[in-house]
Amino acid sequence: MNEVRVGVIGIGNMGRLHALDLKQGKVKNACLSAVCDINSKARQWAQEHLGGDVPIFTNAEDFFGKAPLDAVMVVTPHYSHPELAVRGFEQGLHVLVEKPAGVGTKQVRQMNDAAEKSGKVFSIMFCNRTYPVYQRVRDLVSSGELGDLKRINWTVTHWYRSQSYYDSGGWRATWKGEGGGVLLNQAPHELDLWQWMFGLPERVRAFCHYGKYHTIEVEDDVTAYLEYPHGTTGVFITSTGEAPGTNRLEIAGDRGRLVVEEDQIWFDRLTVTEREFNRSYGGGFGSPESWRCQIPVQPNPAHKHAVITQNWIDAITKGTPLLADGQEGIRSLELSNAMHLSSWLDGWVSIPVDEDAFQRELAKRVATSLDKQGEDEGYIDASTSFK
Ligand SMILES: NC(=O)c1ccc[n+]([C@@H]2O[C@H](COP(=O)([O-])OP(=O)(O)OC[C@H]3O[C@@H](n4cnc5c(N)ncnc54)[C@H](O)[C@@H]3O)[C@@H](O)[C@H]2O)c1
Repeated sequence: MNEVRVGVIGIGNMGRLHALDLKQGKVKNACLSAVCDINSKARQWAQEHLGGDVPIFTNAEDFFGKAPLDAVMVVTPHYSHPELAVRGFEQGLHVLVEKPAGVGTKQVRQMNDAAEKSGKVFSIMFCNRTYPVYQRVRDLVSSGELGDLKRINWTVTHWYRSQSYYDSGGWRATWKGEGGGVLLNQAPHELDLWQWMFGLPERVRAFCHYGKYHTIEVEDDVTAYLEYPHGTTGVFITSTGEAPGTNRLEIAGDRGRLVVEEDQIWFDRLTVTEREFNRSYGGGFGSPESWRCQIPVQPNPAHKHAVITQNWIDAITKGTPLLADGQEGIRSLELSNAMHLSSWLDGWVSIPVDEDAFQRELAKRVATSLDKQGEDEGYIDASTSFK
């Protein structure tokens, strides 16, 4: 295949960026072959910005049935990602879904099954995996440079959002339209990086605060405690209500400590492991010697989303390994579903999450959720996801 014909469904904030990347030739060996949006304003934008040669569809039915497609990017609100991706796979298309993979792991598992059955290339827009700083941390952890991990603390409060952001779309920040708050919209990037660097924990206890800083139904402030089978513990904190925000990751291991902040990595490396020092040191007070060094990292890519799209196209055309395999989208959702469920049930939740319990609890919240649907807005009725 020379040039992959890519269609984009959902031409809102993010879909426009992906469509323009394709249209402007930022992704090699791919072209924008069609777009689709149920919103007339979005279609008008497409008409004005994508030239006359890109067919514009008003609904998924016509888009999947009539558009000239080899591949599709799903850029609609979260609830619809699995459903639309499955449509793509059933049609024999390669698929790239936006994050999060969906709202519940149950629907995402069905999407993964369809991907597997189709044999097509499936990727997910976890564009922060392109950041060299996290690639380096992942290598340091997996190579054993830090020794056994003791504690992981990540404060992710740099996702500040004002009320006007939440008011900007009918689907945003309701149980019915979005299915969650910061855990599903902003923090999936870090939750994915967490599982990518450290794997999944065994159980989670989380405290979510709903509408703490904004007039919204869903959570805008979360503190979660995570436990691993061999004793590693973690604390994950995220909020959209703090300014200035923090993005600081601290990892304590038997061989020292890594601190990641502002795209820099500092390593306080012990000359003898803490466990060994503890066994052999006889001087009472005292602690292991440590050397501080800064780990060199390359700058972040200028267009991180286009890097993921290019990687997906390269996987289709040349068999290049995927940086963000779509099947892995379920893993960060395990974390966010566990955090939600823990907060709703006020107790520990094991991973893998009890999918039926999650669906039941979410359905209760959807049943009393606000209907913020505005005229001609990109609203998805979540009830279609509870088939
Ligand atoms: N990877 C990232 O960095 C990143 C950044 C922002 C958003 N996102 C994700 O992208 C998705 C979209 O977010 P957004 O901010 O662009 O939202 P948005 O509301 O700006 O755009 C969504 C668009 O989808 C359209 N739509 C809804 N249902 C549709 C359907 N069934 N068929 C066709 N079109 C439909 C809406 O009309 C709207 O224009 C979300 O899942 C979000 O989490 C990812």
